[in-house]
Amino acid sequence: MNKYYIETYGCQMNEADSEIVCGILENQGLTRTDLLEEADLILLNTCSVREKPEQKIYSRLGKINKILSKGKNPKIGVIGCMAQNFKGEIFKKNSIVNFVLGPDSYRKLPEIIKTHKKHVIYTDLSKTEVYEELFPSRNSGMNAWITIMRGCDKFCTYCIVPFTRGRERSKSIEGVLKEIENSANKGFIEITLLGQNVNSYNYKGKNFTDLLNEIVKNKKIKRIRYVSPHPQDVTEELLKLHRDHYPKLANHIHLPLQSGSDNVLKAMNRNYTQKHYLSLVKKIREYVPNMSITTDMIVGFPGETKEDFKETLRVMKEVKFDTSFMFKYSPRPYSRAYKMKDDVNEEEKSKRLSEMIELQKEHTLFRNEEYVGKEVEIIVEGFSKKSQSEMMGRTSSNKIVIFPVIDNFGEIIKKKTIIRKTIISTKGVTLFAK
Ligand code: 5AD
Ligand code: SF4
Repeated sequence: MNKYYIETYGCQMNEADSEIVCGILENQGLTRTDLLEEADLILLNTCSVREKPEQKIYSRLGKINKILSKGKNPKIGVIGCMAQNFKGEIFKKNSIVNFVLGPDSYRKLPEIIKTHKKHVIYTDLSKTEVYEELFPSRNSGMNAWITIMRGCDKFCTYCIVPFTRGRERSKSIEGVLKEIENSANKGFIEITLLGQNVNSYNYKGKNFTDLLNEIVKNKKIKRIRYVSPHPQDVTEELLKLHRDHYPKLANHIHLPLQSGSDNVLKAMNRNYTQKHYLSLVKKIREYVPNMSITTDMIVGFPGETKEDFKETLRVMKEVKFDTSFMFKYSPRPYSRAYKMKDDVNEEEKSKRLSEMIELQKEHTLFRNEEYVGKEVEIIVEGFSKKSQSEMMGRTSSNKIVIFPVIDNFGEIIKKKTIIRKTIISTKGVTLFAK
């Protein structure tokens, strides 16, 4: 076996897991290919958070089957959350799949490469697996994902994650620092700390801010991000760190709201009320006035009335999120809400979602217009998608900025450098600088 091919779906955690998987495979002497047709091993790292991404995988497997029917006969694996969710069922639905590996089973890959068995399945969840000492293989990109904790103990009633990724567990502080140092030595100047509830980090009594206090000391790292925190665990200490270490500690917080209605929040088991959330936002803005706040929203949760939905819009209007990921509720097996009646019909869910998206667009524009005329610090990521005469980079607040390749002194701007520019306009989610 020489070449492997991997596709990654879902959240950043899956992106990071794919890098661990690549590291394991490359340690076994395999090299990565971007050509499916020439691979000896094909992996799909999958997501089960909603039904739609699952359907996408089944149709992708069908397409892969067609592409491969003429060529060679590679080993095909479904890994990640769908593997955990469907286990052996995947073989029944897709005859081309040879193995199924849940998110805690990637250390089995060397064994899988060597086996001649037709079907292999490993989906035990672990209480301890954090892939300590396994360094991820990163081919490109600006940002190094650093997984600091895995799993989830929050049990939001809509969510499958506690069942696909198991219980919360954290990597050692030394392990995290070592991985960061390793990334810095490979030229990464930006890191994103990752965890399903990143700020619930707890390693032998050391919490998330204890860890951050150590990380900020690394001089080679210029920007630190983290996703996703749970509002319940955002402490004053964390906000003080943001205040004291800006712009190195990015002035962006992703704070999933999910719903603005107390009834729905309770039914979702979110452990906060509308009042709670709004006072947290107020506190965040007291400590860090220019903090960009982004969120996740679900419309059409079981029992969500028109009034409940209005409450959500009310909170949105008050906070004016910078951006938001918005979803229609999708019933998920194992979750508590799965047993509740999915009583907001599809048409109504779509209507609420469109209304929410329209409102969010206004707020994104409002937030981005605040940047016009201001100077920002940008880490340069590379050429813009549209043109080789323009480059793109990101502000500490995670805004994408497009600017000319040539700077004001006639020099070509280089990737992975830090520059300062004045924003001149904004469109959609993008800022433009001269
Ligand atoms: N239906 C719709 N959206 C969901 N999410 C999680 N579970 C579901 C579900 N069953 C959304 C939440 C979460 C994001 C990653 O996906 O908003 O924050
Ligand atoms: Fe999808 Fe959630 Fe699994 Fe990430 S953790 S891949 S979002 S189901």
